[in-house]
Parts: sequence; C-alpha cells; structure tokens
Amino acid sequence: MSILQKAYSALELKEQGNILIELLSTHLNNSKHSASQTLNWNTPENQLDFWQNQSEQSNEVKDILQTILNTSINLHNPKYMGHQVAPTLPLAALAGLMSSYLNNGMAVYEMGTASSAIEKLILQDICNKIGYDANADGFLTSGGTLANLTALLAARRQMVKEDVWEDGSNKKLAVMVSEEAHYCIDRAARIMGMGTSGIIKIPVDKHYRMRIDLLESYYEKATENGLQVIAVIGSAPTTSTGIYDKLDEIASFCSKFNLWFHVDGAHGGAVVYSKKYKSLAKGIEKADSVVIDGHKMMMMPSIMTFLAFKNKIHSYQTFSQKAQYLWENSEDEEWYNYAKRTFECTKSMMSIQFYLVKQAYGDSIFEEYVDTLYDLGQVFYEMVEDEAHLESFLKPDANIVCFRYVHPDLHHDEINKINQQIRKAILEDGRFYIVQTLLQSKNYLRVTLMNPFTSQKEINELLKTVLTLGEKFMIKNQ
Ligand SMILES: Cc1ncc(COP(=O)(O)O)c(C=O)c1O
Repeated sequence: MSILQKAYSALELKEQGNILIELLSTHLNNSKHSASQTLNWNTPENQLDFWQNQSEQSNEVKDILQTILNTSINLHNPKYMGHQVAPTLPLAALAGLMSSYLNNGMAVYEMGTASSAIEKLILQDICNKIGYDANADGFLTSGGTLANLTALLAARRQMVKEDVWEDGSNKKLAVMVSEEAHYCIDRAARIMGMGTSGIIKIPVDKHYRMRIDLLESYYEKATENGLQVIAVIGSAPTTSTGIYDKLDEIASFCSKFNLWFHVDGAHGGAVVYSKKYKSLAKGIEKADSVVIDGHKMMMMPSIMTFLAFKNKIHSYQTFSQKAQYLWENSEDEEWYNYAKRTFECTKSMMSIQFYLVKQAYGDSIFEEYVDTLYDLGQVFYEMVEDEAHLESFLKPDANIVCFRYVHPDLHHDEINKINQQIRKAILEDGRFYIVQTLLQSKNYLRVTLMNPFTSQKEINELLKTVLTLGEKFMIKNQ
C-alpha cells in the first residue's frame, strides 16, 4: 500500500479519529478538575526549542496530539478568564471537523450545496433576532476584523456617489467611531485609504460610552474640513471595558444626517438571543449592517462571523467584481454563490457548525450562554467591590471586568507596577489566565468570563491570588 493509500484509507481515519476523540474527551473531563492548569507557560523561544526537539523525538500521532493538548492554552478550563474567545461547544467542534474533512470551498454553490442553503437559513434566523424584516440578508465571513472591513466597504459603495470600486477616488472620506472601538475599525478605514484624518475618534463619557452629544459638532467640523463622513460605528460592546454604546441614539443621529449606521457587535451582538440582556443593544435593528462573531459569545470554533445587512441589496454591491471562471454574470444577485459577497474566495463551511448546535439544542442554548456569562460579570464585579484592596474600573454591562490591586500606601506608578507584576506572575503560574489593559494611564487586570462553568469558587480563588501577589510585590518592591 502506498503512503497516500494508507493515509487516505477509511481505516486510518477511524483509528486516528478514535484516538483524537478519546484524547479530547479526557481533556474536557480533566479541565474541570480544580487542580488543572489553564496554561503551561513557556517563553516563545523555549516553546520553539521544545517543538524542535519534539519533532526529532516522536512521529506517533497520539503522542503529537497529546503534546499539543499539553502545550496549548485550555479555554475549557473554568479558570480561563482571558481573551474573548469561547470554549468551543463540542458539537460545534465536531461539525468543524466535518467541515475540514469535506472541505467544500463555498465560493460557488456547487462547492457547498448543503452549507450554502444552511448559511441562508441561519442568516435569516439571525436577521430575525436582530429585529430586521424580510428584506434583510447577509453571510458568514472569517472573523470580526474582515466583517467590519466588508461592512465599511458596503457603506462606501452606498454613500459615495462616484464608483470608487471602478474608478478609485481622491475624495477625502471618513468614519466616526468611539475612541474605545476595536483597532480593526481603524485598520479597515486605513485599508480603505481614509488615512488618519478619516478616522474621527469620538471621546467617551465617564461610563466609557461614545459621547452622542459630540457627534454633531465633530460631524460639522469634518464637513468644514472637506471630509465626507460615510458612516458612524457603534460598539456593542467595546473591547477593553465591555461597555455598549447607545445604539438607539447613534441610529437617530445617522438618520438625521443620512449616514450609514454600522454596529460592531463582534463580542456582544449575541445579546439578540437573550430576553434579559437584549436591551443593551437597543437600536441594533436600525443599523444598516451588523457584525456578530460566532467564536466569541456563541460558542463556535474560530473563526466564524455573521455579517447582516438591513437591506439585502447592499450585501451584493460591495464587490461588484467580475470572476468569469466562477460565475457567468456577476450582476446577478445569486444568494447561493457566496464569493460574490464575501471577501474570501474559499471559506470554510462555518454554517454547519452553528446549524447543528441550533438544531440539536435549540436557540435557548445561545440565550443561556449569554445570560450565564453576563450574570457572572456582575458577580465578579460585586466580589471585587467587597475587597478593600481591589478596585474595579466600571460596573460592567457584559462579561468583561477591569479591576486592579490598590493600597493607600502606594502611589500611581507603584500601583501600576504591582498590577503588571501580578498579571505576569499569574500568566507564568498558569492556573488562571487573565489579561491586562491600560485605562486612563492606569494598569488594570482584565477578565472576560467566557467559560459558563466558571463559578464564584474560581473567582474567589483568583481574587485571593491577586491579593496575595499584591501584598508580596508590595513588600518586594520596597
Ligand atoms: C468589538 C470587537 N470588534 C472586532 C473584533 C475583532 O474580531 P476578530 O478577532 O473576530 O477578527 C474584536 C475582537 O476582540 C472585538 O472585541
């Protein structure tokens, strides 16, 4: 048997598949043990050395898979409270495996017959949840960053009289966005040639929401400076602090000045599934376009993002590019030839992951996930407030909480230093995983509660660890 015949054999698939599933199931089980590590920290250089040695030591699939598990961060551990990526729901991961195996490229209908139809259905579903009517539609794309860029390209197509796609443009275009928005908005605007002057950053109020009262004056100033503002972007919520902009009020402003209203709901757009938290995104249904990441608050594997448009026509006009080898008439609005509308040509069969979960467990699983984690955000905040030497930055809207170690005997720089030391010590210890951020030149520890099995027990253990480390570094730094 040739190596190719062996590697492609059904028997090999079954044997290797069984090994993998067995390992993952043990991993998931072990993740729940309180003594388990979230991360086995190694510097990048040591990690590289490790893998160089490892490559010389073992070619056994089981060993390699086990070693990857041992040396990767474990999002399924309830002590994982770091970045905004979900612990994948096992069924969604299995659908991801199927997508990898089938490898239907999705660019044209023939290359994704089932997954294209399913994509249409789940987009209809999410459009309904957003509150759009039957005129809405959209597609799945690879990540919030790409989805935000695609939405802004659609906005430009709609808002600028000239055909920028065909003819290019010397026109000075701009977008207005909170100074706290995710950096990918800034990046998208620069990719579109808007430059620094085209990214108008609106200051935030004391609750870290975009100041709506400033929108009009910033808009007028931009217009006086010869800029054409094409869109205002609301964050639902912002990344650092997890605070929702007042979408309803941004919608009114956009309607008054006839501007495109885009909502970056990459993190928290999923509240459209929650009766309890939907009001945080009040006004989302008025947006011309909405981005929601599946791999953040919807338990999907990375990477999978919904991009929904209030008016489906807009989703077809972004890339009016001719690719004769793929489709005959690029003017036709064929929902089933997805590459007409997506940045990607080939993309994975993301739709089947979401569909399988929805069919197996119902929409209530998305609601329960959001509610559990947003409730936990409040619990975390209250537990921080109960500690004399801990201080939180803001009362959270969502499952993102920024807090820090404080002490009356320490001044600003010393507190900053100690919080950096705490974060580094926690990272290197590896039981917990949390991140950090800088707000008003103060260093904060930052958690995003992504694991629905994180409980008060883990939070309490983390806060005690922070307090112990704080005291230790206070003495050490003297
Ligand atoms: C508000 C917001 N927008 C966009 C992004 C980028 O999304 P992605 O990582 O899927 O590209 C993030 C990521 O954290 C985010 O928080």
